[in-house]
Amino acid sequence: MMNNAPIGIFDSGIGGMTVAKMIQKRLPNESMIYFGDTAHLPYGDKSPSSIRHYAARITAWLIEHRVKAIVIACNTASSHAFDTVRDICGPHIPVINVIDPVVEHVAGLMKEGKVGVIGTKGTIESKVYPRRLKKANSKLQVVSQSTPLLAPMIEEGFFNNNISKSVIASYLQKKSFEGVKALILGCTHYPLIQREIKAHYTSDVKVIDSAKVVADDCAALLEEKGLLADKNAQAEYRFYVSDYTESFKRSTRLFFKRSTDLSEARIWD
Ligand code: DGL
Repeated sequence: MMNNAPIGIFDSGIGGMTVAKMIQKRLPNESMIYFGDTAHLPYGDKSPSSIRHYAARITAWLIEHRVKAIVIACNTASSHAFDTVRDICGPHIPVINVIDPVVEHVAGLMKEGKVGVIGTKGTIESKVYPRRLKKANSKLQVVSQSTPLLAPMIEEGFFNNNISKSVIASYLQKKSFEGVKALILGCTHYPLIQREIKAHYTSDVKVIDSAKVVADDCAALLEEKGLLADKNAQAEYRFYVSDYTESFKRSTRLFFKRSTDLSEARIWD
């Protein structure tokens, strides 16, 4: 029975849907419950203790909804609250963060050279990427840059225009980023502006987003734990936000190309 239970996924807003979408593609029989903590968006400028507090409450709520695994589809929460979420879940509910699978992927992909990381202030200030990348491959040179305007801009649907292009350019043309061979999109919102980021580079820079790597990791972990859904299971998707907005509703529809069941869960009242 547990096998057909949903996977719980959370983020501050729509960013985690880039991961949910890939999990849907990779594991079409898996049901999902998605929680976007829009009441606290953006997570990027909150303190680590606030992030842990939000993640703990959301985790408890997902467990009440009988999830079999949790994907922290947010780099900021993965940076600060992975251990908190794991402690609450205990040994029977596996937890996946969006950072470790990417670090492993990049360390395998690149023998040496410069890797750039962009993400929220919370993620970049935690230094989690440079620490883990250097540990996985000491020959990598890691440069990072917080890009706090990007997630709110994306959440507003404000991209593919001249202003978004110049915001992206002003972040990426920093001197320290010269000569990067790969750029890690260290925020789950950023795959939505991946095209614009790629267009910024004239040279051959690999732009790496976590969605596919995390979906593969999730599949491997569920298989290892014997938790994959039955092959004939009918997947169900439920979306919740802590503060309902029409724009979030439109985004879920856009992502999942179907009318989606979006409800408000006032878990902070
Ligand atoms: N998508 C999130 C991340 O990966 C959070 C963005 C934000 O709310 O600031 O960090």
